Amino acid sequence: MRILTGIQPSGTPHLGNYFGAMRQVCNLQEKGESFLFIADYHALTTNPEPEQLRERVVNLTLDFLACGVDVDKTVFFRQSAVPEVCELMWILNTVTPVGFLERAHSYKDKTAKGFMPNNGLFSYPVLMAADILLYNANLVPVGKDQKQHLEITRDLAIKFNNEYGDIFTIPDGYIPQTVAIVPGIDGQKMSKSYNNTIPIFGKEKALRKTVMNIVTDCKALEDPKDPDHCNVVALYKLFATEAELEEMKARYRAGNYGYGHAKQALFEKIWAHFEPMRARRAELENNMDFVNELLRKNGERAREEAAKTLDKVRKAVGLI
Ligand code: ADP
Ligand code: TRP
Repeated sequence: MRILTGIQPSGTPHLGNYFGAMRQVCNLQEKGESFLFIADYHALTTNPEPEQLRERVVNLTLDFLACGVDVDKTVFFRQSAVPEVCELMWILNTVTPVGFLERAHSYKDKTAKGFMPNNGLFSYPVLMAADILLYNANLVPVGKDQKQHLEITRDLAIKFNNEYGDIFTIPDGYIPQTVAIVPGIDGQKMSKSYNNTIPIFGKEKALRKTVMNIVTDCKALEDPKDPDHCNVVALYKLFATEAELEEMKARYRAGNYGYGHAKQALFEKIWAHFEPMRARRAELENNMDFVNELLRKNGERAREEAAKTLDKVRKAVGLI
């Protein structure tokens, strides 16, 4: 079974990204051969500054390697190391009804916010389909927001196969259900767009400050508190054992336990959890030759795979 997913280099990863995506992807490595890439072509649809894009790609590479991408099991590469994906996208464009793209939520959401769409943003799902079909992926782990894009991929693959023969593997989406939405420091969904994130690789002082800023009600120290409606407890739950969680809940109910105490306990959990990953990240950062060589080799490996599919596709449509 081949597992594939792409991630956009869109900024500093936070606890929501870690529990909702990064950790899930790393756990899936046990289940089969994995392809994981940094979707830098996709990132261009928002026209980032070139230097910013370069920096984000490097940072995301380090973040993922530090968080547990196993380079013996996973082909970890940059999307743009395989320009063949753009050729496949073009060919898929020719079997894509414009209506599919007009109906895509992510496109509609952006235009509804007054964003002037470029053609790259409009055809974003076709590039995503090319990513998936080029490598014959069977299983594609994605967040809920990408479900529709995956359905478009399946529809395009089926449509293409009906027209030109059995070329593409029809992929299944995999939307991990185990982690509910991680709340941000203000209680809404944690998201870069809401400025309410807790970054996973922050400095100690900054992390402590962010944790101390988590919004709670204003009960006094001695008051009993409700652990079932508290952002601090909801975040603590992600790190604590069952017994530790029950202990914190009991303290809340008993009173004489302040939000400051709970936040301190949460801070310590977060700091300790990411300790080994911080160390690994620092080590990798001091060894960029190794990281760059790894990306280069993996890019070549992905490219070999891509060439095989593209050859079949070209023959099928009459380009060869
Ligand atoms: P952001 O909302 O910060 O821009 P992205 O949209 O880039 O995050 O999400 C990247 C991945 O992280 C997606 O797979 C998404 O489902 C997951 N993710 C993001 N925020 C959360 C959250 N608060 N809880 C759980 N998963 C999340
Ligand atoms: N569109 C995905 C996102 O924003 C990233 C992505 C690009 C992707 N190509 C992909 C995900 C292929 C899965 C498979 O999260």
